[in-house]
Amino acid sequence: MMRIYDRMRPAKDQVMGAFRDGLLLWFSRNRRALPWRGSYSPYEVWISEIMLQQTQVKTMLPYYSRWMKRFPDVLSIAEAREDEVLRCWEGLGYYARARNIHKAARVIASEFGGRMPRDFDSVRKLPGVGRYTAGAVMSIAYNEDYPAVDANVSRILARVFRICDSVESAQFKEAVWRHASDVLPGGRAREFNQALMDFGAMVCLPGEPSCEVCPISGICGAFAGGVAGKLPVRGRKKSVIPLVRSAGVLLSGGKVLARRRPESGLMPNLWEFPGGAAREDETPEAALRRVWHEELGIDLGPVRHLATVKHAHTSYRVTLHAYLCEADEALEYSENGSLRWVFPRELDTLAFPSAHRRIVEVLLQRLASASSDR
Ligand code: ADE
Repeated sequence: MMRIYDRMRPAKDQVMGAFRDGLLLWFSRNRRALPWRGSYSPYEVWISEIMLQQTQVKTMLPYYSRWMKRFPDVLSIAEAREDEVLRCWEGLGYYARARNIHKAARVIASEFGGRMPRDFDSVRKLPGVGRYTAGAVMSIAYNEDYPAVDANVSRILARVFRICDSVESAQFKEAVWRHASDVLPGGRAREFNQALMDFGAMVCLPGEPSCEVCPISGICGAFAGGVAGKLPVRGRKKSVIPLVRSAGVLLSGGKVLARRRPESGLMPNLWEFPGGAAREDETPEAALRRVWHEELGIDLGPVRHLATVKHAHTSYRVTLHAYLCEADEALEYSENGSLRWVFPRELDTLAFPSAHRRIVEVLLQRLASASSDR
């Protein structure tokens, strides 16, 4: 059905042309100065894209510069141990990304002489690289004509071309990639894709977009229909599960007991203070005692509250209660692959999830003020 505003809309070719020109002009005046936007080194572009998969630019920048100091090139990652890579990633979350970088660096070292491959298929086959990241590396590092559609870009395309399917549907995904490819100006993919990314982060925002200052609202289908704030059509919101967890910091002989998480599952291979989730009718302290008994065979003696840390993940909202612990009886100092006694000063060398890193900080403060009191 033709609607009144459709009759007033320019033809598709005109929309495409005005979209390209308007966006490129906007980008020439508003581009963000980002560290990899000088040399466009393929290595830097790849790392920046992996970091930006789940993290906003503002948040990732300090991590990015720390990373580049520690790992200035592919070979430095390939030669590092996985826990060094995880430690440098600490704080960014979604640790599978760091493990995949490590695996990919080893592939690049062994199969491509330490240089990022230059063709789409080889880039796409690297661990952790999907269609979006391969398109971003090909276009931003090599200025090759590949689209790169992430959530920001698909939001812009859904609005401009008034794509009304749910973001989770195959139709939506097909439509945004097709439009991204159709609108891409040949030979200018580097500039154009980055223009889309910055525009999505600065103007065409989620929720209520800034249409009043948008330079391309004149060709935007959603703006014409008064539905810019309603597109793209979100899938059903996933529920966030509240969880209460506890963790125990057992100090003995000047060392603390740390446990390495399993190789698969959430936050694989990271270290933590042993503990677990409280059952529905269980206090955090009771949960701590139960888990230590069941999983470590240790019956805890007196415990003292150390810190409560709140932390959110995609599907969980966790309140973590940490306790300073004593064991009921003298302990056998058994270590195995996943349990290790470490000096507090060594905690800095292990990779912990952010909530447990916070516990480390509180612990170190406590120990420092206890020793200065003496
Ligand atoms: N978001 C994801 N990749 C980006 C990039 N290369 N520049 C700006 N924002 C981004």
